[in-house]
Amino acid sequence: MYPCSNPELVAAVSEAGGMGIVQPIALTHVHGYRFREGLARIRALTSRPVGLNALVEASSRIYHKRMERWVEEALEEGIRFFVTSLGKPGWVVERARAAGGVVYHDVTERKWALKALDAGVQGLIAVNRRAGGHAGSKGARELLDELADLGVPVLCAGGVATPEEFAGTLALGYAGVQMGTRFIATPECRVGAPYKQAILDAGEDDIVLTERITGVPLAVIDTPCVQRLGTHAGPLARWMLGGRRRKRLMRTLYALRSIRRLRDASLDEVGTTGCWQAGRSVAGIQDILPAADIVRRCADAARLVAPDSP
Ligand SMILES: Cc1cc2nc3c(=O)[nH]c(=O)nc-3n(C[C@H](O)[C@H](O)[C@H](O)COP(=O)(O)O)c2cc1C
Repeated sequence: MYPCSNPELVAAVSEAGGMGIVQPIALTHVHGYRFREGLARIRALTSRPVGLNALVEASSRIYHKRMERWVEEALEEGIRFFVTSLGKPGWVVERARAAGGVVYHDVTERKWALKALDAGVQGLIAVNRRAGGHAGSKGARELLDELADLGVPVLCAGGVATPEEFAGTLALGYAGVQMGTRFIATPECRVGAPYKQAILDAGEDDIVLTERITGVPLAVIDTPCVQRLGTHAGPLARWMLGGRRRKRLMRTLYALRSIRRLRDASLDEVGTTGCWQAGRSVAGIQDILPAADIVRRCADAARLVAPDSP
């Protein structure tokens, strides 16, 4: 999660038996590590597997080169699980497979899943309309119906915070869950106290989608800051996002701005910036819980649905 995935949080999730995912831009630009140093910090806290989020969006050449380098370095440091999102995952699959690694790709509908499978991904993450981050437009059940026959494991992303929701998602037929928002309200997550409190206070209806931060709908808490920003891209931004080349430029500009805005808001200990990402799973989050408790409670609930699960 950009900007929330600091090494201590990633390590705590993996140490408890989940798969903590490193977000390289958060690791370097928000939490201040050189990439390999950040991985070493995680390694000092856990010897269990962690994954890397490789954002494969078509943006600037410099950015793409940097992501390629991070993937190479992650492989050299022993990472073998990759979550790709927002683009074409083929180049990550090629490198990961050569090292015996596995790539799961975030998708919001069947057509993207088919393209990702063509590129060789080994699993899908079905991002539904309740997800934090860049939300999809479909419900969890509808999306699983679209993807279930594709012959690879499908994980659910969106709307899962409690052990009951976790078990219910497995009972629907999902192979696992990608959880985000729940892990922000943990002692290990290094975001400011106002952000965590806003998650505890928010209900499902307090989550809105805004295009004004990254150029595509992003799930955020409906704070005065978001109300000032608005939810729809203006006419110029819309025109820019309409054409292929213009879109690439516009997304790069958005990325540069949003990286700073989201970072400052997440680290803010006063609460004045108030531009905070979260999914509708906030409805089930009432307390700050250690990441390990969250993983263990979900695993316990899962055993009731699937007694053989680890
Ligand atoms: C604060 C925040 C930041 C996120 N950043 C990323 C990201 O950088 N890359 C990504 O692939 N997904 C990102 N996501 C999406 C999550 O990986 C996950 O799909 C989502 O949080 C699931 O929904 P949930 O928040 O209801 O659990 C982010 C989610 C949140 C809440």
